[in-house]
Amino acid sequence: MRITVIGAGAIGLLAAAKLSSMHQVQLLTRTNVQAELISAKGIRLDGETIHIKAITLDDLYTVQSTDLYIVCTKQYDVKSVWDKLVSHAAAPVVFLQNGMAHTDMLRSAAFDYPIIVGSVEQGALRVDQQSVLHTGKAVIRLANLTGNSAEMLVKHLHDPNFPFLLEKNWHRMLGKKLIANAVINPLTAIYRVKNGELLERPAFCAIAQKLCEEAAEALDFDFAEQWVYVRQIIMATKGNRSSMLKDIEAGRKTEVESISGYVQKHAKRAVPYTDFVYYSILGLTRQQERTSL
Ligand code: PAF
Repeated sequence: MRITVIGAGAIGLLAAAKLSSMHQVQLLTRTNVQAELISAKGIRLDGETIHIKAITLDDLYTVQSTDLYIVCTKQYDVKSVWDKLVSHAAAPVVFLQNGMAHTDMLRSAAFDYPIIVGSVEQGALRVDQQSVLHTGKAVIRLANLTGNSAEMLVKHLHDPNFPFLLEKNWHRMLGKKLIANAVINPLTAIYRVKNGELLERPAFCAIAQKLCEEAAEALDFDFAEQWVYVRQIIMATKGNRSSMLKDIEAGRKTEVESISGYVQKHAKRAVPYTDFVYYSILGLTRQQERTSL
């Protein structure tokens, strides 16, 4: 397949490098510097060089023939990417973001091609603008948001070295992951701890459980089932620093709006623990921004 990967963060670099072993891949980056670097020197995946054509997102209109777009940007950049794609793309689009805020927007969009959403369980760490480490070997799950092409895509994309799995229900797939992110991400970022410490320290664990209860109820999921799942994710990623902790430490914008903000927006009752972490993360980000000025 001819695949256009949009976004050259950790997941974009990993997906572009892995998919290029079986497909013709090009990568769209935010900056010209990164596009030139990758075009000249390739992507370094776990120390191995993979040669890939890269252009900037501003040149999206020059992409003529592609069979698939895969959007790997952070959640808060989806809107600006989508504004460009919606008037240009003539192929299915896969979205691989944390959170669910993009689904409300995409479901109401007038777009003639299928939209597929994914949940990434792969672990990846971007080392610099062209280098990425594959830190956790797992799967990418895909489900139809509109149209009916996820099954065919999974068949084309699946590779035992980079597996894709079909999920029938996009809301369950993304909701399950969102609940885990609504528990793990803000708490690890506020307490500045690795994921595993949320279970190791009983006081943190008590707050984690409250957040899980609120998120599960807001999204109409069973709390007991979700708490088992959240604990499994914490155990499986116990040595990891969550993406929100890394964003806060680097003074970057976080995805709290599409994670805790989504829980707040869909809650039928008060969600005081979620409110607390949501405003704490916003406050920490502003503090970081002031510090970096
Ligand atoms: O955002 C993250 O960091 C990850 O989705 C997760 C599952 C919380 C593991 O760190």
